[in-house]
Amino acid sequence: MPTLKCPSCDHTLTLTDNTWQCEQGHRFDRARRGYTNLLLAQHRRSRSPGDDKAMVQARTAFLELGRYQPLADALLAQLPAQPDGDWLDLGCGEGWYTERFAHVLGAGNGVGVDISKFAVDAAAKRNKQLTWLVASGARLPLFEQSMQRVLVLFTRLFTDDIARVLKSGGELLVAGTGENHLMPLREALYEDVRQSGFDAGKFLDDRFSLIDSEEVQFEWTPDSEQELQNLLTMTPHHWRAKPSAKADIGKLTGQTMPAHFIIQRWERVINS
Ligand SMILES: C[S@@+](CC[C@H](N)C(=O)[O-])C[C@H]1O[C@@H](n2cnc3c(N)ncnc32)[C@H](O)[C@@H]1O
Ligand SMILES: [Zn+2]
Repeated sequence: MPTLKCPSCDHTLTLTDNTWQCEQGHRFDRARRGYTNLLLAQHRRSRSPGDDKAMVQARTAFLELGRYQPLADALLAQLPAQPDGDWLDLGCGEGWYTERFAHVLGAGNGVGVDISKFAVDAAAKRNKQLTWLVASGARLPLFEQSMQRVLVLFTRLFTDDIARVLKSGGELLVAGTGENHLMPLREALYEDVRQSGFDAGKFLDDRFSLIDSEEVQFEWTPDSEQELQNLLTMTPHHWRAKPSAKADIGKLTGQTMPAHFIIQRWERVINS
């Protein structure tokens, strides 16, 4: 099991009777659902940071349809065939991908971290062997050079802390969206569609070296308005788009929808 670091004093946490405790006496109870909240009140910018309950439920409903399985397959192809050390899914959300990674990388040596307690609560239901934590990617409760692998899907890259926890030679696997992603949906929501594809290189520096970059594109046909609303609710368009435009997306039911993702694998190089 990965070793956790006390968010109050940086000492090692040990788990006894469902409580994580450090030698300074800081205690964090593991919820009955199987996750632990290591986000201290003074490190929270709002009462309920991260995705809210509706976003988490929408993501689960959409991902369970399996529409993004080709992306999951492409991500799994970037992983070793067998467990090769401790790993972290940072911004794990409700754990659909994390669960799939655990089949390959091992559950007992995996950590899922998200700042949303709603997301982690849902994720913990999927697999009790993983270590599920409510924490911020900006202050990971993990030790220096302790992780062989960090996965970051559709979540901000916290470069310094990822560099801190990755071992030398360890790998960062990131996914973001490409310029064609959900184009008909974006055209329905906005007058001016922003054209930009994800590039992790904008956020990383010479502590990382690119191993592989891949575009994954496929299409599917949403077959209900509910599916489209769930898709919308799990993306940042949920915050950005006008309510009137959001109410109208049912018109895209039965029409082809393109998915476009960019996957990059980076190695942590120790030169600084
Ligand atoms: C677009 S979702 C992606 C979830 C998951 N990786 C997936 O692809 O299904 C982004 C996630 O990042 C989380 N998040 C936002 N800020 C965060 C932070 N500072 N630290 C950790 N997670 C954060 C949100 O709560 C949300 O679950
Ligand atoms: Zn402590």
